[in-house]
Amino acid sequence: MTKPVRKAVVPVAGLGTRFLPATKALPKEMLTVVDRPVVQYCVDEAFEAGIEHIIFVTGRGKGLIEDHFDYQFELDATLRQRGKVPVADQLDAQTPGAGQISFTRQQRPLGLGHAVWCARDIVGDEPFAVLLPDMVMDGKPGCLKQMIDAYDEVGGNIIAVQETLPELTHKYGIVETGAEKGKAFEITGMVEKPAQGTAPSNLYINGRYILQPKIMDLLSSQSTGAGGEIQLTDSMLAMMETDPFYGVSFDGRTYDCGSKFGFLEANIMLALKNDDVRDEVSELIKSLDL
Ligand code: G1P
Repeated sequence: MTKPVRKAVVPVAGLGTRFLPATKALPKEMLTVVDRPVVQYCVDEAFEAGIEHIIFVTGRGKGLIEDHFDYQFELDATLRQRGKVPVADQLDAQTPGAGQISFTRQQRPLGLGHAVWCARDIVGDEPFAVLLPDMVMDGKPGCLKQMIDAYDEVGGNIIAVQETLPELTHKYGIVETGAEKGKAFEITGMVEKPAQGTAPSNLYINGRYILQPKIMDLLSSQSTGAGGEIQLTDSMLAMMETDPFYGVSFDGRTYDCGSKFGFLEANIMLALKNDDVRDEVSELIKSLDL
C-alpha cells in the first residue's frame, strides 16, 4: 500500500523580474489569466487531485497571496445580500478550509530545492506533491490527478514530463526514460538546464512532482548546481540511485506563465475555453487581418 499524497508544496518566493513593472508591487503569481490569478490554477488542480493541505513557500512582498486564499467575510456577506449566491458559493468552494493552508518563508533566494526544503517540518514524514505555479496546466483531469492515478499503481516518486523543442531544452530539467510501467515509465536520468545540444531527450520536467519525504534529507546537504542554486533536480537524481522514480506523460497543455509569451498564450487559449468570453475572443481573432 502506498501512503496517500495529502500535502502539496507551492513555491511562490520568486521575484518575477521578467514582468516588471507589473510585478513591482504585485506578486507575479497574482497576475490574472482570464479571471483567476495564476497561482489559483495550481491550487484548484491540487484540490481536484485530492490534496488536503497546501503549503506556500513565500517571500517578502507576497502577502497578497495569503489574503487571496482567505475567507473574506465582508465580500461573502455582501454578495449573498445582493442575491449573488452562486458567485459566493463558487468563491467558497475555491477557498481552502480552516487549517488546510500553511505559509512559510524562504528567507534567501537559494533555489527551488531550497524552497522545497523550507517546507520540511510542515510536510513531515509523508509523500507530498510540488506544484510550480508559473506552469499553468490545462488538462482533463488535471496534471496532478493524472499523476496520482499513476502513483496509486506504482508508488515511489513521480514527475510529469512533456515534449519540448530541442532549442528550448536548456530552459528546463530534462529526463532520460526507461521501461514502461502501467500508466508511468521509469526515469533513468535527469539533468537541470543542459547546455544547448547536450540534452538527453526532448522531455522536460513541467513543474509537477510527487516525492517521498526522503528528498528532504537529500536537499539538506545538496550542494549548488545549475545557476549557482540548490536544485531540486540534483537531489532527485541522487534519490534515483536508491529509490523508484517514474515519469508520467501529461495528457494536456502546459503554459509557461513565467515567460511573457507563455502568459499571453495562456490568456488567449483559456479565454477560448471560458463561457463568458469565448465567442467574442474567437470573433476578435478571426477579424484580425495579420
Ligand atoms: C524549475 C525546475 C526545472 C523545471 C522547471 C519547470 O526551473 O528546476 O527542472 O523544468 O522549473 O518550470 P525554473 O523554472 O525554476 O528555472
